[in-house]
Amino acid sequence: MSEIACPTDCPRLGPGTPTWAAPVGQVRKIAPTGGADEVDETRRNVLKLLAIAGVIGAAGGGLAGGALQYLQPPSVGLKSYPTTQLIDVSGVPLTVERMNREYSVNTSTVYTFNYPLVDEPNFLLNLAGNSQGITKVPYGIGDNEDGSGLIVAYSAICQHLGCVAPAIKYYPPGLCPGKTFTTAQGVLDFFIHCSCHGSTYNAADQAHIFTGPTVLPLPTVILKVIDGTIWATGMSPSSPPVKGHIDTLQGDTGVGSSSQLTNLGQGITSCTFPT
Ligand code: FES
Repeated sequence: MSEIACPTDCPRLGPGTPTWAAPVGQVRKIAPTGGADEVDETRRNVLKLLAIAGVIGAAGGGLAGGALQYLQPPSVGLKSYPTTQLIDVSGVPLTVERMNREYSVNTSTVYTFNYPLVDEPNFLLNLAGNSQGITKVPYGIGDNEDGSGLIVAYSAICQHLGCVAPAIKYYPPGLCPGKTFTTAQGVLDFFIHCSCHGSTYNAADQAHIFTGPTVLPLPTVILKVIDGTIWATGMSPSSPPVKGHIDTLQGDTGVGSSSQLTNLGQGITSCTFPT
């Protein structure tokens, strides 16, 4: 170790005193006899610590690596939206023709299907027969020449605190007398309403908010018609993630190439919309 000359303005030692033998901050033990018995405690302690760390590392390395595997569980989800065919409750591919024959805006029986993950249910609605004469809605598919129409799908998980259908319900026209919402599409008397805390969504326009406390619309599923059958191919890019998921594609396994409708059998017969 090199010696450092004591500065001339040193307040403790003063000019003319012996030089420092160690840098500031280093602890040294000086043997009573001095010279040959001098022990550098700092250096010895550092060597001890290095030796102990080496033993622990060699013995516990494998164990620690294994533990870390369990601390960071593998993420479950999808890298991209699947192209998924919707299957009717009877087990056959769902067609636009069948939707228009059996389901309409007036039905109180609501169907859901999971997409894109197995724990993400969505309403499948057909707004054909609405009293406002609406012939197409955003993201709706159907019989129009350009493929547009009134068959739409929205997440069935409320964006407020995550109540899932049938707690969140589709209300057909007339179920809640006098309960209407004025929109650019006309005065609508059908809507999606959550009985948990009262959030209400526009079933005819990307499930935008009619009433809170939700501050986000329900995510909209992108549907497509292929050879007359109905497929889900993604979610609207303007939609928020499905409630309860940081990312709509993460958190569970994908539904695969087909997803069968579930009849909720809710059969809503009375209005629970608060007055
Ligand atoms: S969870 Fe639907 S309104 Fe609160």
